[in-house]
Amino acid sequence: KTLDLNLDKVSKGDYEHYMLKEIFEQPSTIKNTLFSHLNTENSNIHFENLDELKEKLVKASRIIIVSCGTSWHAGIVGEYIIEELARIPVEVEYASEFRYRNPIITKDDIVMAISQSGETADTLAALRYSKAQGATTFCVCNVFNSSMARECDFTAYTYAGAEIGVASTKAFTAQVAVVSLLAIQLGLERNEITQERANSLVEEIKTLPSVVNHIFNIDDHIKSVAKNYIKTTSFLFLGRGINFPIALEGALKLKEISYIHAEGYPAAEMKHGPIAMIEESLPTVIIATNNEYYDKLVSNAQEVKARKGPIIAVVNEDDSEMIHTADFVFKVPRVSDMLQPIVAVLPLQLFSYHVAVLKGCNVDQPRNLAKSVTVE
Ligand code: G6P
Repeated sequence: KTLDLNLDKVSKGDYEHYMLKEIFEQPSTIKNTLFSHLNTENSNIHFENLDELKEKLVKASRIIIVSCGTSWHAGIVGEYIIEELARIPVEVEYASEFRYRNPIITKDDIVMAISQSGETADTLAALRYSKAQGATTFCVCNVFNSSMARECDFTAYTYAGAEIGVASTKAFTAQVAVVSLLAIQLGLERNEITQERANSLVEEIKTLPSVVNHIFNIDDHIKSVAKNYIKTTSFLFLGRGINFPIALEGALKLKEISYIHAEGYPAAEMKHGPIAMIEESLPTVIIATNNEYYDKLVSNAQEVKARKGPIIAVVNEDDSEMIHTADFVFKVPRVSDMLQPIVAVLPLQLFSYHVAVLKGCNVDQPRNLAKSVTVE
């Protein structure tokens, strides 16, 4: 079942597809989301109506994130950021598994649903179940007054605007933006980070809309790379640390709209299975921005190359080694590791879009998929 969306109400403008429009909207949707939760004068983070729950959040023994699809990937990015900055244990669960496995929930837990629509059946059921068990419930949601927003104790809205393309793009980056601000706020309140660290992260976050805009300069390059892969039947995506969920998301985007089989893996797990698949016809996309794992990713890339596997790498503009190993690179601006996912996901969104269009697929309404899965 699909939610009724009146497509005529949202224009595609000059874009050929809603998905492309939504990808290109991200500088403004990220900006709108950030500045809805940031005081423009003093850069203080604020979440409307959070005050009475703040104490509970700050003292939470753990946060359980429940979600589905792309929102689940935003949840994993959230896990890395919240644990790093706020030092609260985070578990990320597929809502569908969580709701049926008799999970242990206490009144000290915070259950956070991440959902673009606020209507996904499994996520809503997981939220209701947690509430009944006495947990504090919270949602990150893009649709005002949606079921989740109405039913949970607190809602932090993303301001991505209506997302029409079935494959989620701008909602994802907005979700990550909200969770990042929340993690900084919690880190401060719990004295896990200094005001200086919070300020410098916030100042950097404020630059993200223009940083992201920069990536559109390589759109033609991404399209020309995509031309090489329209006959490819399978892809491997590798990432590590906070870019691991971006590997999952890159693979999901490609599957959803181009019907090419793709698997996302933590890079180090390659040795535990996927490496057996590597050959000339299986390209690997490696997200290798400059962080503490960079050298390990370069050696993963060399292992792929040694088995004749083609490589596309997402790297920073100042990359020195991966450019020599990969067949193609998508260069993205370098930002703090914690903020890199918002930047690194963009070329992968564009890549899957171009592959799908070149293959003649219906990118806005891919076969068998629904924008909102409101029944089981
Ligand atoms: C469907 C959509 C995905 C989305 C997922 C979760 O599968 O096709 O794009 O990520 O549902 O939706 P939600 O609205 O809960 O974020």
